[in-house]
Amino acid sequence: MSGNSFTVRDPKSGREFDLGVRSAVLGPDVIDIRNLFSQHDLFTYDPGYGSTASCESKITYIDGSKGVLMYRGYPVEQLAEKSTFIEVAYLLLYGELPSGDQLKDFDRSIRTHTMINETMLRLFNGFHYDAHPMAMVAGVVGSMSAFYHDTTDIHDPRHRDIFAHRIIAKLPTIAAAAYKHTVGQPFTYPRNELTYCENLLNMFFAVPPEPYQVDPVAAQALDLLFILHADHEQNCSTSTVRMAGSSGANPYSAIAAGIAALWGPAHGGANEAVLRMLEQIGSVDNIPKYVAKAKDKDDPFRLMGFGHRVYKNYDPRATIIRETCHRVLERMGGNQPLFELALRLEEIALKDEYFVEKKLYPNVDFYSGIIYRALGIPKSMFTVMFAIARTVGWVAHWREMITDPEGRIGRPRQLYTGPDRRDYPPLDKR
Ligand code: CMC
Repeated sequence: MSGNSFTVRDPKSGREFDLGVRSAVLGPDVIDIRNLFSQHDLFTYDPGYGSTASCESKITYIDGSKGVLMYRGYPVEQLAEKSTFIEVAYLLLYGELPSGDQLKDFDRSIRTHTMINETMLRLFNGFHYDAHPMAMVAGVVGSMSAFYHDTTDIHDPRHRDIFAHRIIAKLPTIAAAAYKHTVGQPFTYPRNELTYCENLLNMFFAVPPEPYQVDPVAAQALDLLFILHADHEQNCSTSTVRMAGSSGANPYSAIAAGIAALWGPAHGGANEAVLRMLEQIGSVDNIPKYVAKAKDKDDPFRLMGFGHRVYKNYDPRATIIRETCHRVLERMGGNQPLFELALRLEEIALKDEYFVEKKLYPNVDFYSGIIYRALGIPKSMFTVMFAIARTVGWVAHWREMITDPEGRIGRPRQLYTGPDRRDYPPLDKR
């Protein structure tokens, strides 16, 4: 590589040619291979996209080796300490921190878009009581493309804004409706005088026979978790939203696709899996047995909440969440033995050669479930909580993708290794 170009030698023809290099503000520069196929008849091969920059983005930056995460240039630690989820949502969507008036307007807009169409509530009755909430939420969010088709002209900036505010405001209402359906309680309507997280907790836990007082410690802890989960650049679900949206699909459907992708245990579904794993391990004495299972190549068991495609150092979100666990469990009670088990598991794994060598550290999902549980949120709702927060990131990326002048429909190619051309044989010759 020299200057702004990268020289490639085609082993078949022996021909050499230059590819352009584009500079990043932070992180690795990228080799521009857009004309590789049209000019040189070659594809690149990168299963899982470990070395592929799928787009240009100005939203979030991660340095995985140093454990750095920044939204629009602001370190997540500073935002976690000084900001709120609603302010972070504005930052991610619009690129800058809001002025006082901008924040007030944005907050008011989100608070006044929390109701969902009453007909949408009836959709929940089509689900069995034990349906997983992620399945219900993905389905109902998908249905929003039918409810709000009048304002989803993706080429109209005002419509894009209405979409952004609607989906961010309504996700907690949909999540709470899914929860109420699973526990067989009546739906609680949103209350606009409450903050985003207070409203969510109220919709989850208020019941008609008695007044419900939102615990400010719980609302604050939830707000912090939402800040930490709000965006994470081109992860699996965000890439899914971009890919689905790149065809010009209805944006609510693109978010539903993101929710489906998030549910997997390798991604957002890990928070639920971590808690199940900790319960299964049960006591400190069993940790070595499970660490050995995680290291055994013939055993599919993995330490859930450990490892990350990008972080090869401690996930900065896990550091903050671990600290928060101490505070929340102290003030609200909660499963202290489970937290102690998690701390001990982390300590043992981080001293183990296998985890050291592979640079496997606790990720954001390792401790988040312990906090959700202390707040009274059941395991099956953990990934829904993640989806509420990540909706902000999905929408920010969808907007960036739609307005990118270089944007095209996402359409990867492949390395074909199937049969060569052959003729169809008649049935009696097979
Ligand atoms: N336990 C045991 N071994 C592991 C683990 C783990 N949790 N994670 C990775 N490894 C091993 C893996 O077996 C492989 O070993 P080898 O090189 O000998 O084949 C090596 O480490 C590299 O792993 P990989 O699967 O190739 O790495 P990846 O970047 O494709 O996967 C990951 C990243 C997060 C899917 C994976 O670490 C994992 O499955 N972790 C557990 C699930 C989890 O906690 N997911 C949440 C991720 S953070 C939140 C989010 O994205 O939503």
